Amino acid sequence: MSQKSFTAPAYDSILQLQAYQTGKPAEELSREYGVSDVLKLASNENPLGCSPYVTLAITENLGKLARYPDGSAYYLKQAVADFTEAKLNQITLGNGSNDLLDLVARTFVSRDDAVIYSEYAFVVYSMIAKMQGATGVEVPAKRFGHDLDAMLIAINATPNAKVVYIANPNNPTGTMLSHQQVKDFVQQVPSHVLVVLDEAYIEYSPESNNRALIDAFNNVIIVRTFSKAYGLAGLRVGYALSHPDVADMLNRIRQPFNVNVLAQSAAIVALADQAFIERVHHLNDGQKRWLCKQFDALGLDFVPSYANFVMVNVGDAKAINQALLQQGIIVRPLAGYGLDEWLRITIGTPEDNTRLIDTLRDILETL
Ligand SMILES: Cc1ncc(COP(=O)(O)O)c(C=O)c1O
Repeated sequence: MSQKSFTAPAYDSILQLQAYQTGKPAEELSREYGVSDVLKLASNENPLGCSPYVTLAITENLGKLARYPDGSAYYLKQAVADFTEAKLNQITLGNGSNDLLDLVARTFVSRDDAVIYSEYAFVVYSMIAKMQGATGVEVPAKRFGHDLDAMLIAINATPNAKVVYIANPNNPTGTMLSHQQVKDFVQQVPSHVLVVLDEAYIEYSPESNNRALIDAFNNVIIVRTFSKAYGLAGLRVGYALSHPDVADMLNRIRQPFNVNVLAQSAAIVALADQAFIERVHHLNDGQKRWLCKQFDALGLDFVPSYANFVMVNVGDAKAINQALLQQGIIVRPLAGYGLDEWLRITIGTPEDNTRLIDTLRDILETL
């Protein structure tokens, strides 16, 4: 007789899961190391904050906190529909885009299915497969990016393949696939397999926008977030674009009030302020070039990035991460991805980046 236990998870694969490692909060570092003036470059947040209109919108909505939010988030959906030229019934909103990545799996993936993703792709995809008790199929990366030919072979070799996740640009490597590459891929994916295109960093490389694929392919879902370029990570809001039938299914599983009152009001005005997004893009591009020049000067290898972070090979990443923490700088070690020598560094303001490079140079000289 099998032993019963209240801690027995729904699926054995949940036993292999580790809680998602978030970037260390600045307050925690201050407490642990007694440093003030902590610089967090670990979670790809926006160093410029968010649009100034967000503060106004939030202030105006503070009186509504005793009421449930609009469960259909009508006005935010309308704003997303206008911005993306999609219909209302093609939009699903999420409590951050992570909620939507998860919602896709909860809606469409059973324990008999397989989920396909790339090596070095956003770690949440493999976690999602385990959460559902499904089979996760990790396809080896090519030059740190998605190898779409190999992914197609894997899909065709996996009769129970149900969902394929692609991050474009990819976190943590910063690689990007062109629109043509993604289109050619989607054209060859069997129509019963859902293709989730995670465009969390699309504002930093708008040329890789695959919005057009939604109208041409019923099995494509695009997922986007307000956490990165829009600077609203703390509010938790994202959206998915899909065929209306897919959105209808997602809505059946979605928590009724998954986007809160303040997040709804903030996202509407944030979306309207595209001048802010242009400033963010411009600053990020300039600072990315500067940072990469400094990495070159320090003799450090890095992967050219299409997002708001750069993955750099520092050798003994564990020791260097520790030394950076002692100086009050939080970056992201990538040992969890099997990238033991690499750190992922979010691009900050010119002052942030100068401090990072000066500190890194000192550490490298003394190690
Ligand atoms: C590729 C990618 N997708 C999705 C997310 C989830 O972001 P959020 O839930 O804040 O929208 C992240 C966050 O780091 C990410 O890097």
